[in-house]
This record gives sequence, C-alpha cells and structure tokens, in this order.
Amino acid sequence: MPCASRNPLPRSSSWPVLQTFLSCQENMSAPDIDMRQECPDDISAVSRVTAAAFLAAPHTTHTEHFIIVALRKAERLSVSRVATHNEQVVGHVAASPIKISGTNRGWYGLGPVSVLPSYQRRGIGSALVMDALRVLSSIGAGGCVVLDDPAFYERFGFKANSALTLGGVPAEYFMAVAFDASMPSGKVSYHEAFRAQSRLTLERTRRE
Ligand SMILES: CC(C)(COP(=O)(O)OP(=O)(O)OC[C@H]1O[C@@H](n2cnc3c(N)ncnc32)[C@H](O)[C@@H]1OP(=O)(O)O)[C@@H](O)C(=O)NCCC(=O)NCCS
Repeated sequence: MPCASRNPLPRSSSWPVLQTFLSCQENMSAPDIDMRQECPDDISAVSRVTAAAFLAAPHTTHTEHFIIVALRKAERLSVSRVATHNEQVVGHVAASPIKISGTNRGWYGLGPVSVLPSYQRRGIGSALVMDALRVLSSIGAGGCVVLDDPAFYERFGFKANSALTLGGVPAEYFMAVAFDASMPSGKVSYHEAFRAQSRLTLERTRRE
C-alpha cells in the first residue's frame, strides 16, 4: 500500500503551550525532514530505526522495537509518526494509552522515540516529540507521560509530578504534561506490550 503524503494536523486551541511549541517548530533545524503518519510500508523500517537508535542509548532494554510491534498488534499504538529524509524513515515516535490507578483517563505514554544515530542532534527528535504531542492534543488526550531524561523532555513542558507515579523508577525521570487544567493523580501503568521481549512474548501478548 502506498504511503500517505505529509499529513498536517489540525491545531488545538485547548493547550496554549502547545501553540507555542508549534510556532517554534517552524524554526526547527531539521531541513528536508518530513513528518507523517506511519503506513504499512514503514513497519520494517520503523523496527530497524528503533533498534539502531537504542543500540548505544544510555537507558535501554534493547526491546523497544518489540514493544512497538506488540503495541501495533494489540491496537494500542495510538500515535505512530515517522520522520523521513528522501523518503527514507530516519526517525519514529510512538504513544499509547496508559492507565492511572487502573482507570483509563484519556492519558497517553510517549515513547519509544528514536532517531537514526547518523541523523541525531539535528532537531529531528524534538520535532517528533512536538508532532506526537500535537497529535495527542488533536485526538482529545488529557495529557501525556514520559519516562526518560528530564534534560531532553522538560523543554517540551514535561515535569516530574509527585502525584503521578510509576513504580520502580527514579521519580525525577518520570514526567507528565497536562493538556488542560487538570492533573490527575495515581499510579501509572503502561500497556502489557511494554513487557514484550521478543517474537515469543509478542505472540503471547497477542493471545491475551
Ligand atoms: C533522544 C533522541 C530521540 C533525540 O533525538 P535528536 O534528533 O538527537 O534530538 P534533537 O536534535 O532534537 O536534540 C535536541 C536537544 O536534546 C539534546 N538531547 C538529545 N538526546 C538527548 C538525551 N538522550 N538526553 C539529553 N539530551 C538529549 C540534544 O543535545 C539537543 O540539545 P540542545 O538543543 O541543547 O543542543 C535520540 O538521541 C535517540 O534516538 N536516542 C536513542 C533512543 C532514546 O534514548 N530515545 C529516548 C527514550 S524513548
């Protein structure tokens, strides 16, 4: 199936900070990079880019590409956007629904986010994060969490919040951004696809 052409999203008026991000995006230093929705032809490239990006990453389980496949199979890959250069996938961002204290509150978890090592530090990762937040806002998400380095994610409005917790991780690495005035509280859980290790676990996730 051919890939859809670049797909601009409606701008949300519900989140003023997002508007600022979007206007900054016009000045991003990622020339010749297009951002669009993943299409079926991109699936193997997304796995390759994700595995390559995390190969030398500081915090990794090296299972991130399996997680994306498992989310897709479970129909929980709510956001799957690719960055392309000369029509080749060079970056990818995913987001999936989370539960807060066991309840679906319309919140999402950002990640994995991946940029091919040879394309890193050109603004593509930032553009992908902003693009994913824009998609989430446009589908009416209440907010988004991320588990990673605050040095990168705080610039997008993410902040650690003691009310929203994820077990077993240092609190400062688990951050949230609300798209409206309300910040929920509780224990966050990601979809079970985040336990995917390999094709075998993937098969199990699909059957459950
Ligand atoms: C994290 C990642 C997606 C960033 O992509 P990128 O295209 O290199 O990011 P950008 O060029 O937009 O970087 C913007 C800024 O973030 C900084 N930055 C990039 N990666 C960073 C990281 N892992 N930690 C802290 N800061 C980081 C850059 O130095 C740059 O800072 P500056 O604006 O002050 O110069 C990319 O490095 C990557 O794929 N890493 C491996 C996978 C990973 O760790 N993903 C994140 C967890 S899901």
